[in-house]
Amino acid sequence: MAEESLTVRDNRTGKEYVLPITNGTVPAPKFRDIKTGPDDFGLMCYDPALNNTAVCKSRITYIDGDKGILEYRGYPIEQLAEKSTYLEVAYLVLHGELPTSEQLKQWIHDITHHTIIHENIKRFIGSFHHDAHPMGILCGTVGAMSTFYPSAKNIEDSECRALQIRRLIAKMPTIAAFAYRHSVGMPVVYPDNDLSYTANFLSMMNKMTELKYQPDPVLVRALDVLFILHADHEQNCSTSAVRVVGSSRVDPYSALAAGIAALYGPLHGGANEAVLRMLQEIGSKDKIPALIRKVKAKEALLMGFGHRVYKNFDPRAKIIKVLADQVFDRVPRNPLLDIALELERIALQDDYFIQHKLYPNVDFYSGLIYQSLRFPVDMFPVLFAIARTSGWLAQWEEMILDEKEQRIARPRQVYLGAKRREYVAIEKR
Ligand code: SDX
Repeated sequence: MAEESLTVRDNRTGKEYVLPITNGTVPAPKFRDIKTGPDDFGLMCYDPALNNTAVCKSRITYIDGDKGILEYRGYPIEQLAEKSTYLEVAYLVLHGELPTSEQLKQWIHDITHHTIIHENIKRFIGSFHHDAHPMGILCGTVGAMSTFYPSAKNIEDSECRALQIRRLIAKMPTIAAFAYRHSVGMPVVYPDNDLSYTANFLSMMNKMTELKYQPDPVLVRALDVLFILHADHEQNCSTSAVRVVGSSRVDPYSALAAGIAALYGPLHGGANEAVLRMLQEIGSKDKIPALIRKVKAKEALLMGFGHRVYKNFDPRAKIIKVLADQVFDRVPRNPLLDIALELERIALQDDYFIQHKLYPNVDFYSGLIYQSLRFPVDMFPVLFAIARTSGWLAQWEEMILDEKEQRIARPRQVYLGAKRREYVAIEKR
């Protein structure tokens, strides 16, 4: 069998270098050996958006962008969406195996009994301006939680990590719901331990004066499946932020605050919010061709389309589209759905989108469901953050435990700035 190696010839010196190929990669540090002389720093690899750079070895999520495959710990997303629950998937993503019934019962008990937040955290949320974006509240509050649990800095202790992981998964929906209730001037609704994880979230979001919130089981299931679909997605922007910030060995609350900040961006978690605004701006099917023209002229992005990895279809988008039909059987059909379906139909047959490999991603239809579940648009990325908390924490812990290779992240740069020059006194400038 041919040797698993790469021979590189430096045409500046005629020297050849053999680089080992492991797991489809070559070790970037080896390029530093390629020099033109003893004073040469050696070569670096230049990959500004880390488009083709593996920064870690992971056993959590596998994606095949060409085949539209997404697996959590080897289990296909389609099977998990059909047969599992979000808390069971969170356990799988974090522990690497599906739980036994005993393990799942204990896990649900543990999460359920950590849903209440410190009253000072509730007051912190209440101190935000009434129209503060809930992602800004979530980012600030999760960061502030590092001051409520100072022992979380003890990240080398597995039990301490497990406790913070339980706290974060349990409290993210509470913080999200409290932020929402603050923004609409409503009193907060405390967690109801009789309800499931997702039903309790809907209760904290929507309960009014009734004694017990009675969620629609079909809608609870739809949201739980959406949480499953968003649990993890290998080294996306926000997960990479958690890994980079976590590599300084900061506590997990501070590392997750970085992930929430990255997810806030319109090209990442803010996309489903942007999709809805785009569909609202289109307004009617006859306005779609005008938008398509703007996109082709590069004057606009088609929000909810395209993906760095999926270059055929996002398997999550397919599952969400089916989910939309189930939801719209129970709630009034979202009028924007017809515009979305027509936009997808037109785009999928247009050469420009085919050549640019632009297909609906996870965000294209999720916003329509969230809107039909009566979530305000600015809560959409917050729902994404609730679900991705389990993936962020699994990736964070995997990085912490990979002591052999994972050190503090410190990329290099190509310096193209001014050459050395002497200071000029102000009167001489
Ligand atoms: C998520 O990484 C993840 O896993 C993320 C995520 C997760 O689960 O964590 O899957 C969740 O963030 C999904 C993506 C949500 N974002 C959007 O829907 C925003 C719109 N999409 C684009 O911004 C874009 O597609 C990205 C950001 C998603 C991916 O961008 P890439 O891979 O960097 O692609 P690119 O910007 O280099 O674009 C390649 C070409 C360009 O044209 P050319 O310069 O080659 O002529 O495709 C064009 C782009 O202009 N293009 C689009 C487009 N996306 C890319 N043109 C119009 N509309 C778009 N949506």
